[in-house]
Amino acid sequence: MTHRRLEATRIVLASHNAGKVRENAALLAPHGISIVSAKELGLPEPEETEETFLGNAGLKALAAARASGLVALADDSGFSVAALDGAPGVRTADWAETPGGRDYAMAMAKVEKLARHAADRRAWFSCALVLAWPDGHVEGFLGEAHGQWVWPPRGTQGFGYDPMFVPEGAGETFGEMAAEAKHAISHRAAAFRKLAAACLPPVE
Ligand code: IMP
Repeated sequence: MTHRRLEATRIVLASHNAGKVRENAALLAPHGISIVSAKELGLPEPEETEETFLGNAGLKALAAARASGLVALADDSGFSVAALDGAPGVRTADWAETPGGRDYAMAMAKVEKLARHAADRRAWFSCALVLAWPDGHVEGFLGEAHGQWVWPPRGTQGFGYDPMFVPEGAGETFGEMAAEAKHAISHRAAAFRKLAAACLPPVE
């Protein structure tokens, strides 16, 4: 398959989340690419109406590319539990929603309550990264990190559902690992490696 390569050196990140902007800026910098955020450009955030990570990342990236005239990068990620048929999946952030903001202790407890009697403990994180061009062309890449869910949650590093996930071959949860150890094996890193190989200029 031939991929379209990125020629621009400045792209828009289709996210208003400061953490995502920082993480993606760090990944892109070695390739000579800088980013401006959707928030800085005052772009609206579309509703995530698709049923897949790639679908939602695609609609965010396309909306930002069309509104800004720049190439746009969007990501969509989440946590899936085998015994729950892949839930919370694309609804991962919604499960943490409360009137006072996101509550991940509550979201993790919800997963445990629903899955506690299942013998199958497999779980995985997914990350979809999509690059979209203003002419409507898209390039999408999916990365996954497989492992098991554990209870009770362990560790204070990372964010979201990290404390209840032990990746394959590890004894610690993502919440207990140093950031570098998690980033070496994470779903986001896996997706970014694919995107970089297909579309980005090589690291100097
Ligand atoms: P998004 O902003 O729609 O991509 O939502 C992603 C959801 O998945 C958020 O609730 C995150 O907390 C969760 N999530 C994604 N990646 C990770 C991760 O690396 N660790 C823990 N939770 C994650």
